[in-house]
Amino acid sequence: MESFWLNSDTFPQYDRLKGNHKTGVLVIGGGITGILCAYRLHKQNIPYILVEADRICNGITKNTTAKITSQHGLIYNKISQMYGTSKAALYLKANEYALSEYKHLCNTIDCDYETKDSYVYSLNYRSKLTAELDTLNNIGFPATYETNIPLPFHTAGAIKFPNQACFNPLKFIQEIIRELKIFEHTRIISISKKGALTGHGTILADKYIVCTHFPFINTHGSYFLKMYQQRSYVIAYKNAPDYNGMYIDESGNGLSFRNYKDYLLVGGGGHKTGKKGGDWQVISSFMKKNLPQATKVYQFATQDCMSLDGIPYIGQYSKNCPDLFVATGFNKWGMTSSMLSSIILSDLVTGKTNQYASLFSPSRNMLHPQLITNIYNATVNILNPFGKRCPHLGCSLKWNAAEHTWDCPCHGSRFADDGKLIDNPATGNLKK
Ligand code: FES
Repeated sequence: MESFWLNSDTFPQYDRLKGNHKTGVLVIGGGITGILCAYRLHKQNIPYILVEADRICNGITKNTTAKITSQHGLIYNKISQMYGTSKAALYLKANEYALSEYKHLCNTIDCDYETKDSYVYSLNYRSKLTAELDTLNNIGFPATYETNIPLPFHTAGAIKFPNQACFNPLKFIQEIIRELKIFEHTRIISISKKGALTGHGTILADKYIVCTHFPFINTHGSYFLKMYQQRSYVIAYKNAPDYNGMYIDESGNGLSFRNYKDYLLVGGGGHKTGKKGGDWQVISSFMKKNLPQATKVYQFATQDCMSLDGIPYIGQYSKNCPDLFVATGFNKWGMTSSMLSSIILSDLVTGKTNQYASLFSPSRNMLHPQLITNIYNATVNILNPFGKRCPHLGCSLKWNAAEHTWDCPCHGSRFADDGKLIDNPATGNLKK
């Protein structure tokens, strides 16, 4: 496991789970979401097992930029337009709660936690920012409009969220996993009334939580219709300015900035997985022009599940599956969303009500314009007779020249040059 955040050698290794077992809650997936779910169950003395198909934190978690903020682009005006101001207020309350939980936990953990202000800037559209600010002011949140932005280019201004945070996610996880019951190299093949089938036995649980980034069970929930995946690129620079905050463009194609120690992390070049778009080159060109003294020291890429309405799917996997739960569709805001998932799901699996559950319910209305786009895109790529086929649902794969991978434009599975699975929802390698 190579990561900007931590040397993999410092992470513990866990055994494979063999034989048949029973437990209260089976958490599937050892990224930050699964780990936080397990941590919360552990603290409440609820029996659980966490299983990871590979090594823990070896997927998306190790490639996050680790911004802990309730400012998720210009989401509040969007939610207010779709579902009303009270839902926007609830989304804010939920994410501020997740932020406060990190703050509380990080009090006693050495994980480079820092309180920082967060900014969403716009290059040209002041009106988008003022609409967001109006919604936030209606909700009663102390966001402000800032015009003096220290970035090396002109902006129309930015919305500032005070007192947000960032940290080193792997240092944080390294501490909270100490007492957890974790098994690695334990892939779940299927789940039925008889339990979760691994390659070496069965785990029978009262409840199951799927935290595998993209949910791997296709027969329920229609996640392959209600999500697509997006790739983003990050370069870490030295000899670059400290902007003392976290900055992101409101436009999906813009750049983001955040400092960590004496590094500046610049994100950008995002595109839909399997589609043409930017990559590290976009960031490199920008830096060469605007901050030529900066030295590139590390680069990485990440992948995010995008929901239909910009709100994550956290809750019951589908209406027909009372014992199966899911957390996915974090729309690039994985830190607060993973904490929130652990808060909501640890309540739901123990039969408690949770005030945020209905807003994040995966069974909410799917009728959004993005659904049509997802269906059209999948149909076109399934019918395309050319190219290698994705083992998930058979779409035609595209070659990603920047990363030397085969990427699926339908739901975002990715494969190495030799066919080895990198990113789900596919569950196996390419056929030779
Ligand atoms: Fe679904 Fe490729 S990821 S068909």
